Amino acid sequence: MNIGIIGSGGREHSLCFKLKESSIVNKIFCFPGNAGTELIAENINIDISDFKKIQSTCDEKKIELIIVGPEKPLVDGIVEYFKETKIKIFGPDKICAQLEGSKTFTKKLCKKHKIPTSSFEIFNDEKSALNYLTSTKYPLVVKADGLAAGKGVYICKNQGDAKLAVKEIFNGRFGKAYCVLIEEFLNGEEMSYFVISDGATHKFFQTAQDHKRVGENDTGKNTGGMGAYSPSRLYNTELDKKIKERIIEPTLNGIKELGVSYCGFLYIGLMIVNNDPYLIEFNVRMGDPECQTILPILETDLGKIILACCDRKLNNIEIKWKKKKSVCVVLCSNGYPDDFKKNTKINQLKNIKLDSDEYLFHAGTKIENGEYLAIGGRVLNIIATTESFKISKKKTLKILNDIDWQEGFFRKDIAYKVT
Ligand code: AMP
Ligand code: GLY
Repeated sequence: MNIGIIGSGGREHSLCFKLKESSIVNKIFCFPGNAGTELIAENINIDISDFKKIQSTCDEKKIELIIVGPEKPLVDGIVEYFKETKIKIFGPDKICAQLEGSKTFTKKLCKKHKIPTSSFEIFNDEKSALNYLTSTKYPLVVKADGLAAGKGVYICKNQGDAKLAVKEIFNGRFGKAYCVLIEEFLNGEEMSYFVISDGATHKFFQTAQDHKRVGENDTGKNTGGMGAYSPSRLYNTELDKKIKERIIEPTLNGIKELGVSYCGFLYIGLMIVNNDPYLIEFNVRMGDPECQTILPILETDLGKIILACCDRKLNNIEIKWKKKKSVCVVLCSNGYPDDFKKNTKINQLKNIKLDSDEYLFHAGTKIENGEYLAIGGRVLNIIATTESFKISKKKTLKILNDIDWQEGFFRKDIAYKVT
């Protein structure tokens, strides 16, 4: 069958790459894709908020199944739109997408179903938020409600930092943030845990550890993710049982009580404190760069898994994983996550040779007159999957050193806890 993938990041390139290997996939179209997907699929440059245009393109190109990479179209209701058509769509509907789109929705769900998470207060106006800051413990976490591409979170060591954060959010730094969440700071180690669900059955879809801070030793500003490794070093069967019983099952049952069921990837962002899981956030999609890190170690046909989800037949599929250790390092434009130069030339990219256990997924790139240009904050993802994290990391760093691009930077310490 012909498949459409919505999105243009490293996550979407890795989905495209993996679906290319699928026995049920014929041709792939990316809306709009990047310079990497252009090599293996057909990029279609249209506005992804224009669902009608996507639909007419699907009709024209005989696309039978759409996979949604990023959260925004999901939060905006793309799944409801396509449910009215003959085209299958993989991803959660608008109500379920509130798990990512609204931090207050999720916090209320946690409270109702006793899902372990940090204690929190919600404020709709600046004055009461600032007032609360005078009588609370530090460090604490200030968050803008709504989608902020991983950047609407401030870890505040003292009242001064917290005041600045609250003011920035109410001043509209992230657009129309209606309210601010002030949360207890959880002191532990993070783990990204994934499941895939067809609405009736859900299955484990690996773990990873993302490095969200821009600087080495996990310092500096939060980003979308500077690199990751999979599986997470924190994963064990006892913890897995706790995550399922305390977080995933109550959440999916809580969602059912709202009259809907969850279909798609679910990303559970956890803080692990003494082998106990606490929910930090849900995302209603795969992680980026976790997806690029995880998919190369997936053994089962991804096309078959996703089609089974759309047909509510996930129960029939066994998801198998290679016993490999995967490391992904993200190459970014200088200045990211703040301002950066666009349209800088990446030299010699075509000459990079990859072994069969090495992968290069594009993110913010385009091809112009045969040259690769960087057009985003996160630009390339380099992945290696070997029998040890040490070797995988060494391989990624070797490739990165071969890429000739003065305007870029990467963290040399990705996966430092396991290497
Ligand atoms: P979020 O967008 O909610 O996932 O937050 C982004 C990042 O901020 C997380 O991945 C954590 O590194 C950090 N963070 C968020 N909430 C907390 C918390 N309550 N305690 C400690 N760190 C947090
Ligand atoms: N890597 C974090 C995210 O995808 O939200």
